[in-house]
Amino acid sequence: MNRRAVTVTFAIMLVLVVAATQVWASEGHAEGGGPAEVSSIANPQQMNAESLKTGMAVYEKNCSGCHGDSGRGDGPLANSLLEKPTDFTNVTMMEEHSDGELFYKIKEGVGEYMPAFENQLTENDMWHVVNYLRSIAPELAAQEEPVLTEEKETTSMASPEEFRTLENPVSNDHASFTGGKEVYKLYCYRCHGENGWGNNGSYAQSALTKPAPDLSDPALLRKMTDGELFYTIKFGSGEMLSHGEYLSDEEIWQTVNYIRTFEGKEHDTTTREKSNTTLYGAILLIAVLIVFFVKRRR
Ligand code: HEC
Ligand code: HEC
Repeated sequence: MNRRAVTVTFAIMLVLVVAATQVWASEGHAEGGGPAEVSSIANPQQMNAESLKTGMAVYEKNCSGCHGDSGRGDGPLANSLLEKPTDFTNVTMMEEHSDGELFYKIKEGVGEYMPAFENQLTENDMWHVVNYLRSIAPELAAQEEPVLTEEKETTSMASPEEFRTLENPVSNDHASFTGGKEVYKLYCYRCHGENGWGNNGSYAQSALTKPAPDLSDPALLRKMTDGELFYTIKFGSGEMLSHGEYLSDEEIWQTVNYIRTFEGKEHDTTTREKSNTTLYGAILLIAVLIVFFVKRRR
């Protein structure tokens, strides 16, 4: 390679690295503890038995799947996340955060795996759960280190054949749709992505040996009965872990109804992929300009 070719190659590589960093940052990896003013907001909910009871109920329903019943970050979903859910028994960590900061993180979410609860919980519930988180730390800190929960064996007494003929007991109405949508957003989206396309969940490309299948493909779901779908969701399949430990049967049936609505949804490439296309176009343009510039200087 002559010197000019080396220069050009180097310049193009530099541009690519910079661009990749940009894409990475734009996909929500940026760190941040939230606006400065939130840390000073006082908790309007007094720490008392009533508040702890409410906070605990909110926690068990919405948080323990990832953060664990004990708050140690060892919930059944934790193994399938790339980021470890925060361990609330870590007193030092909890002391570093004000109530306002914890509230903000619950409301807005953190990184890719901690969902935002803005649309699911009232502000009061979020403050109650902050009180509850505070009650976990001192209580468990004294106890010994946890033994990480072993991944559950997905082989079970039940076989897919037994499930094949099961009727879906949940009618396909609005309540079912809403319930299934909620489950999907929390537990399925990161692998199967928007509308089940399997191409834009945060987990889809990074951690699976092959992408999660496209659930909007009519050929896929039509050949499966509701009972088989129920079985897959409850007990898992290949790299898809079982969801039966934290979803009720009713929630699973609702999810079955919900994913059936994906059928035939045409792939929409106008959102994120478009911005990437624009970016790659810009990179190409810059590369061409560099080549042109180097040639001119010769
Ligand atoms: C789908 C899994 C998941 C669910 C559900 C979830 N979390 Fe998290 N949470 C995480 C992960 C993973 C992190 C660490 C994120 C990071 O550091 O990037 C986290 C971080 C946090 C933090 C930030 C702590 C810090 O270090 O700044 C708080 C507070 C929190 N979660 C509270 C909650 C509460 C309260 C709920 C329920 C209302 C909840 N989480 C539900 C996965 C989850
Ligand atoms: C950790 C990533 C991951 C999560 C989370 C996940 N899946 Fe999957 N899913 C996969 C993979 C990978 C496959 C392909 C499995 C295989 O090859 O056996 C799959 C397969 C499926 C199938 C097709 C099964 C078949 O036999 O063709 C359905 C339906 C499905 N998932 C629905 C769901 C639903 C509903 C949820 C949420 C409750 C969910 N998945 C959560 C990764 C995931």
